[in-house]
Amino acid sequence: MLGLSLKDGAKKARYLANFARRRLVHTNMQLLYDCNFHCRICDFWREKGRNPPRLSAAQVRVLSDRMAEIGPQVVSIGGGEPLLHPELVEVVEALARHHFPVMICNGWFVEEPIARALWRAGIYEVSVSVDYADPARHDAQRGMPGAFERALRALEILARTRVAPHQRVHMISVVMDDNVDDLEALVLRCRELGITYLVTLYSDKRGALPVRRVPNDVGARLLELKRRHPEFVSLRGYVGRFSEAIRAGGLGPCRAGRNLCNIDSQGDVSLCIDRLQEPVGNIFRDEPRLLERRLRARHDGNTCRACWTSCRGSIETLLYGERPLANLWDYHQMTRDAALAERRV
Ligand SMILES: C[S@@+](CC[C@H](N)C(=O)[O-])C[C@H]1O[C@@H](n2cnc3c(N)ncnc32)[C@H](O)[C@@H]1O
Repeated sequence: MLGLSLKDGAKKARYLANFARRRLVHTNMQLLYDCNFHCRICDFWREKGRNPPRLSAAQVRVLSDRMAEIGPQVVSIGGGEPLLHPELVEVVEALARHHFPVMICNGWFVEEPIARALWRAGIYEVSVSVDYADPARHDAQRGMPGAFERALRALEILARTRVAPHQRVHMISVVMDDNVDDLEALVLRCRELGITYLVTLYSDKRGALPVRRVPNDVGARLLELKRRHPEFVSLRGYVGRFSEAIRAGGLGPCRAGRNLCNIDSQGDVSLCIDRLQEPVGNIFRDEPRLLERRLRARHDGNTCRACWTSCRGSIETLLYGERPLANLWDYHQMTRDAALAERRV
């Protein structure tokens, strides 16, 4: 989303200044917790208490203005399933006024009209989750027959309906104990679709889920996959640390609170999605600058090193990773303009 185009110049300039000063630049947001899938690896849908309420578009307008006092954010809209939100287009519009909205979804509800509306509303990037190359295994993991087929269809629709070259479509997989051999086939599906591919590392901290032992050599395997497939655009500094993260059960120091934060469906602001029970305040009730200071203080005392998911790993790699130029190059590949499908010959 921060490719070299001059679109949104003022917003980008402010973002880059905060990035250079290592300030808060990335916000993960649970717009709602409702979900139509019952994924084995996620327990959000199991916890009834998490469901109500959802943020309304009117609330997101306020949230967007208030977060802009801290600075433009890459706001990752998640949940729950964001496409279950009846005002998702208005939510994206509200965020795009000051920020860089991106979204992760399961693909089930993607149809042409909503896809076009989201792109027109100013979303920068949409990722659709696909975890296995075998449709039956993906459907079983997601607890929804037909999930694979709908996700692939969603990716095709999203790629075809983009309205500006800077808008990007990715497939994203959670790397687990039993899907490492599927990843190359998924990258090849991305090549066929003219889109790009991302991964995140499984976290066993989302409730009482089983500890799953991801193969230890996965970091080297992912780097090798990246060398062979330009469609695989995750940062090398991020995937290169997967083996270390698996061995150690996660990586520290965690930069949540300093460079990234979480806002949930009630406006509660916390370090991350796994620390919702310990908010530092609420975006509707507390002054944004006060929230920023409290986040920073919470960060300074935080010793957690329990995960290496992409919702923190990508931004932390860009800000603190070894070989910054190589990671910046990968980031450019992830966000640079991609020709619109209609214009391809
Ligand atoms: C919580 S989901 C919400 C968005 C949407 N419902 C979806 O399924 O993509 C956001 C991302 O987190 C991933 N995810 C779910 N459980 C996870 C876990 N235990 N560890 C790491 N990533 C996980 C999902 O696969 C998805 O890519």
